[in-house]
Amino acid sequence: MNVRLSYVLGLLSAVAVSSLPLNGVTAQEAVERRVNELLGQMTLEEKVGQLNLVSHGPPLRWEDISEGKAGAVLNFNNAEDVARAQALVQQSRLKIPLLYGLDVLHGFRTQFPLPLGEAAAFNRRISFLASEWAAKEASYVGVNWTFAPMADLSRDSRWGRIVEGFGEDPYLGSVLTAARVEGFRKGGLAAATKHFAGYGAPQGGRDYDTTYIPRAEMYDTYLPSFRAAAEAGSASFMAAFNALNGEPSTANAWLLTDVLRKQWGFDGFVTSDWVGIGELVNHGVAADGAEAARKAILAGVDMDMMGQLYIRHLPDEVRAGRVPESVIDESVRRILRTKMRLGLFEQPAIDPKRTDANFPSKEARQAAREVARETLVLLQNKDDLLPVKSGTRSIAVIGPLADAPQDQMGPHAARGHKEDSVTMLQGIRQRAQSAGITVNHAPACDLMCRSTEQLSAAIEAAKKADLVIAVFGEPQELSGEAASRAYLDLSGKQKEVLEALADTGKPIALVVIGGRPQVLNSLVERIPSILMAWYPGTEGGNAVADVLFGDFNPSGKLPLTWPRATGQLPMYYNRLPSSRPTLPNNRFTLQYIDEAITPLYPFGWGLSYTQFAYSDATIGQKQLDAGQMLDVSVNVTNKGSRAGQEVVQLYTRDPVASRSRPLRQLKAFEKISLNPGETKRVSLRVPVESLGFHLDDGSYVVEAGAIQVFVGGSSLAGQVGEVEIVKTISLPPDERRASASTSVVQ
Ligand code: BGC
Repeated sequence: MNVRLSYVLGLLSAVAVSSLPLNGVTAQEAVERRVNELLGQMTLEEKVGQLNLVSHGPPLRWEDISEGKAGAVLNFNNAEDVARAQALVQQSRLKIPLLYGLDVLHGFRTQFPLPLGEAAAFNRRISFLASEWAAKEASYVGVNWTFAPMADLSRDSRWGRIVEGFGEDPYLGSVLTAARVEGFRKGGLAAATKHFAGYGAPQGGRDYDTTYIPRAEMYDTYLPSFRAAAEAGSASFMAAFNALNGEPSTANAWLLTDVLRKQWGFDGFVTSDWVGIGELVNHGVAADGAEAARKAILAGVDMDMMGQLYIRHLPDEVRAGRVPESVIDESVRRILRTKMRLGLFEQPAIDPKRTDANFPSKEARQAAREVARETLVLLQNKDDLLPVKSGTRSIAVIGPLADAPQDQMGPHAARGHKEDSVTMLQGIRQRAQSAGITVNHAPACDLMCRSTEQLSAAIEAAKKADLVIAVFGEPQELSGEAASRAYLDLSGKQKEVLEALADTGKPIALVVIGGRPQVLNSLVERIPSILMAWYPGTEGGNAVADVLFGDFNPSGKLPLTWPRATGQLPMYYNRLPSSRPTLPNNRFTLQYIDEAITPLYPFGWGLSYTQFAYSDATIGQKQLDAGQMLDVSVNVTNKGSRAGQEVVQLYTRDPVASRSRPLRQLKAFEKISLNPGETKRVSLRVPVESLGFHLDDGSYVVEAGAIQVFVGGSSLAGQVGEVEIVKTISLPPDERRASASTSVVQ
């Protein structure tokens, strides 16, 4: 199925299709006819108005809407404003409905975990569920377009926006990005997949800095999740701020036209990011606003977010013959087509009295808790300190983030209210009470942990307790957009506080809150149990308590590599081999002289309260040709005494190829549940057509020869065998490849 068709079919389930005639005319043809009829009635100014995206508050003049000078608006988050705008649309000459855009990333009123945490669930259903809920709440008050998902892969945790994406793996990212697009659509939001492209690899991890990525590497690593979004029916894309190999994404015809439209067949529209078109002047590729507008539209940016440059300059650019009117027409077509597919022309006016006051509902809370607990990653658990033992009588909950209702929602919390949050302290206290355990809380320091005036009270509380649950990490302010960090150590005096707590000799479980791995240094030796909780959202406290007390067995796996030191970054598991693989006693091999070469915790890592054993791996067919599947089956057994979930992961490596290939690459995964003593046989199937690599022109090659196969519970999985590709397969850039499939045999 090509992208266009899957997009239309995908949307048909969500839109008002009653207006689409059926008599021998496909839905797609009917939309195109309607688009062209409408376009034929539009003045040049009205056309350019459709390309204008303005934010609520200044600079939006409400009259712009009735005068046909805005095609979409953003930062609308309540029904009253949407109703007012809709009424103004009715006063405009052509009554073309608006898109109401908002950054609905991980919830609207009910906050779900940030996407990086969500990725740790390694669970398509969970990503779909979270996005569907976010969309249901947002669309209830009239929002119909979200600036999400963020499909930017990143290998560098210094970059604050790593929290908004799915981590470092292109396959995991593709699966989850597609699930998010579909979940948003099911809940009533059109997606704007962002930031196209390469934004997650800025030099030095500095937000807004430049990116150099060879084209083949773009295709192999940075573009697959965007392609997955297009195939899942993302209505739109957002161009990125960064320059890619010297060409700003906002004026990058290769990205926006050659790849997105010609190779992938995408026929929705592209918006710029916030004043991204004007920033072409800062990039030094345009002398002024007029040139910036011209370069952006000619490259394929259809909508100008907040720049007002299209509306100001494009009519003159057309009249002067510098921009053909046909280019404007094509951009307008893309926007009108999208609005029609979304059913906006048929949509009744919204009731302005609708509010989000009744959110979060009981069901939304349940979903938020279900999602959050799947995202928690148990990094270490020495001597099985967790879950909390039955004989425990008192717990000291220490740390400012234990009771930080705003911070646990994380950045980009849309209409999140901190009053809705169940904090870690509340969740733990409530659960402890039911078991007759007393809980004392001491923050130990302020949120940024600059002062330790309150440390002695915390030490006293710790000394009196049977168990210390310390909640530390990254306050929300340190994560997200414009929050690049040069040091990933626990900020302020947190390390000092945790060392002092460890000095008490009390057993400590550390819950880390934050948008990226924190450098833990010697705390790893001093603190037996560490649970990564990301920004767990509204129900975070209940979800964390569920896991700490063993009511839910942790099953999250790291969607990125956790470094030992900031200086190791960028660091990722699917790296190329070195000419000199690490030999511990040979300095002239791959290593640091002042730090280990290995990460602290590898990609795909995460413990459970039970243990899983892998056995009897078999590979179906050992000789593979085009159209066939690499078929691997393995038994997974729960060896412990608790039920649990395991993420079965399949990696491959092409050991000898015409160019150096990664040491391993995730190709399939399946999350399974196992009762104590139970064994399941899991089948993971990978199409041969995804075992190769791209060339710079976007074509794809699977070279004849051996492919090694690894299966296990993390990226350290052991090798289970080898297959042989019998002859080289070449695919053109626009060929859609099937994706992995998995199954579980009881
Ligand atoms: C961000 C986008 C966001 C937009 C609108 C920009 O600063 O880069 O990701 O969607 O603002 O809020």
